[in-house]
Amino acid sequence: MNNEILKNIKTRRSIRKYKPRQITEDELRAVLEAGTYAPSGRGLQSPVLVVVQDEATMAQIVKMNAAVMGTDSNPYYGAPTVILVLAPTDRTTWLEDGSCALDTMMLAAHSIGLASCWIHREREMFETEEGKALMKKWGIPENYAGIGALALGYADCQLPQPPQRKEGRIIWA
Ligand SMILES: Cc1cc2nc3c(=O)[nH]c(=O)nc-3n(C[C@H](O)[C@H](O)[C@H](O)COP(=O)(O)O)c2cc1C
Repeated sequence: MNNEILKNIKTRRSIRKYKPRQITEDELRAVLEAGTYAPSGRGLQSPVLVVVQDEATMAQIVKMNAAVMGTDSNPYYGAPTVILVLAPTDRTTWLEDGSCALDTMMLAAHSIGLASCWIHREREMFETEEGKALMKKWGIPENYAGIGALALGYADCQLPQPPQRKEGRIIWA
């Protein structure tokens, strides 16, 4: 079987080198809208998507994520847009809901020619006082936790080939 959706799933790759040029608002809105259409437990649509594009906030989250990682490199690889995903931890499926939103946005991004990479450590970032202060500034309640983020932009490299899929991962019961 083959179709455009299956092809999109198979050709998406994590990109770690971005052009500095900002994506268009239409592109951004398309990716965000796709994220809001991701499935969520009991259909509660719990995750929130925080768009970071301004220089000061970008520098702040870069520093916060790098601090969790223990490096001084840019964990978002210089992508001009970062979408942070948080969800309320009192929902039993908060982590899965946020993960679905991230994956859906990655596939949507790829389908319109954008590059992306799922970035980790947002949970720890938003457990810090600095992270909590940012959440307050953005109007996000205290019961929300970070799940992950999407680095988003135009690739400044060739799309890598996917590694061979591991054998034995499909089990027919
Ligand atoms: C939960 C999760 C966390 C990830 N965290 C990072 C990360 O912090 N930094 C990074 O460069 N890639 C991260 N990735 C991307 C993976 O490294 C990538 O998906 C994997 O190497 C397979 O490559 P592909 O996405 O091109 O198929 C993460 C992916 C997932 C699903």
